[in-house]
Amino acid sequence: MAKGRTSIFYCQNCGYESSKWMGQCPGCREWNTFVEEQLKDREELKKRETLARTHIYRLSEIEIQDEERLPTGFAELDRVLGGGIVPGSMVLVGGDPGIGKSTLLLQMCRNLSEAGRRLLYISGEESLKQIRLRADRIGSFGDSLRLLCETNLETIEGTIRAEKPEIVIIDSIQTMYRENISSAPGSVSQVRESTGILLRIAKGMGIAVFIVGHVTKEGVVAGPRVLEHMVDTVLYFEGDRHAAYRILRAVKNRFGSTNEIGVFEMKDRGLCEVRNPSEYMLSGKPQGASGSAVACAMEGTRPLLLEIQALVCQTFFNIPRRTAAGTDFNRVNLLMAVLEKRVGLSLSSCDAYVNVAGGMKMTEPAVDLAIVLAIISSFRDIPLDEHTVVFGEVGLSGEVRGVSMAQSRVQEARKLGFTRCVLPQVCVDQVKEIKGIELCGIRSVREAMELL
Ligand code: TYD
Ligand code: MG
Repeated sequence: MAKGRTSIFYCQNCGYESSKWMGQCPGCREWNTFVEEQLKDREELKKRETLARTHIYRLSEIEIQDEERLPTGFAELDRVLGGGIVPGSMVLVGGDPGIGKSTLLLQMCRNLSEAGRRLLYISGEESLKQIRLRADRIGSFGDSLRLLCETNLETIEGTIRAEKPEIVIIDSIQTMYRENISSAPGSVSQVRESTGILLRIAKGMGIAVFIVGHVTKEGVVAGPRVLEHMVDTVLYFEGDRHAAYRILRAVKNRFGSTNEIGVFEMKDRGLCEVRNPSEYMLSGKPQGASGSAVACAMEGTRPLLLEIQALVCQTFFNIPRRTAAGTDFNRVNLLMAVLEKRVGLSLSSCDAYVNVAGGMKMTEPAVDLAIVLAIISSFRDIPLDEHTVVFGEVGLSGEVRGVSMAQSRVQEARKLGFTRCVLPQVCVDQVKEIKGIELCGIRSVREAMELL
């Protein structure tokens, strides 16, 4: 780096550094995310890193105890965390503003405070009054929950060291700042350095720390991506703003699997767990309507039944209109081309609208067969059998290919009262006989059509 340089440019989205400003970040391809920050902040960071290495150990000298995990009172949250909160761990909860991160963590505090756990909720975003108002909506709290409105990390560190709580919640990391760093709160240096301090507190004192991080597209504040590698667990809270359900997804977890999701529903008294997401997704399914097929997709290790809807009608345009909501648009076009060529449906003169009901997003190839059947059903205006579930990937020659975890998909369908399952022939052998559900193995889309 050139002598006398005093600042460096950081991408606020992914943390990419550069000595000059750039329009597009080479790291994450976002535009307009570079912000200038002072170099002396970085030197400060480096100095700390060299000071940190003091003790070295042999592997056999390290004592391990069985990790005791604290249940959060939410089975869905426990599952995503890998079985509860691990003391000394650091969890990042990311998500769009307004999705319900503060609500989720406050409700977790409620459950834990009733169990008598010592909690410290530090908010840099809301006033104590606002938290109280939210808390009143959620329910009654135990006395072991302490609140603090503070954004200065030196004060926060001191408070945590004095109070010695078991669990600390930082809402949000983008509002926290350190005095000796000149860049604004929410910049890459501030967010990284603040997280570093919290990390030391968490590991040193065995306190579980939850930090909230807003996901931002505009690059005004540093996104949670910048600190994903620092924390133990990264959870993303996502969902459609217009739909009530929310999905909590583990993206990284040093203490459990990342395949798990938790499903919640936002109600007027806070978030409620959805124990049976398939039932939830299928509620409101029309009876005897054409263009509707039930698919069984996987969300991590969890099977999820979804209704796929299609509406195919005569076009009045030169180029037919096609839309896909909740699934991949190009995939829908591809499947329609397969139907045109391999089965002989004349779809080229038809508009087609495909929708995953309930606002869920699903791009797994296993829903191909359901999309295809919904399109055929709508085209011919013949409803499909209501008690049939379908899954399978459709290839370019119209063949139906195998998918993973057929057994759990069939089991889920059985659990929800479906009596027939149309699945790829290759999967039939993998599925053990399940009482009450008939398995129909098929090899091609044409066979599926004949079956229905
Ligand atoms: P919030 O937890 O403040 O979001 P975040 O911390 O992720 O920014 O969520 C606020 C939204 O949740 C807001 O739009 C109102 C809604 N909400 C309810 O619908 N019911 C409730 O009981 C609560 C507390 C919030
Ligand atoms: Mg909030």
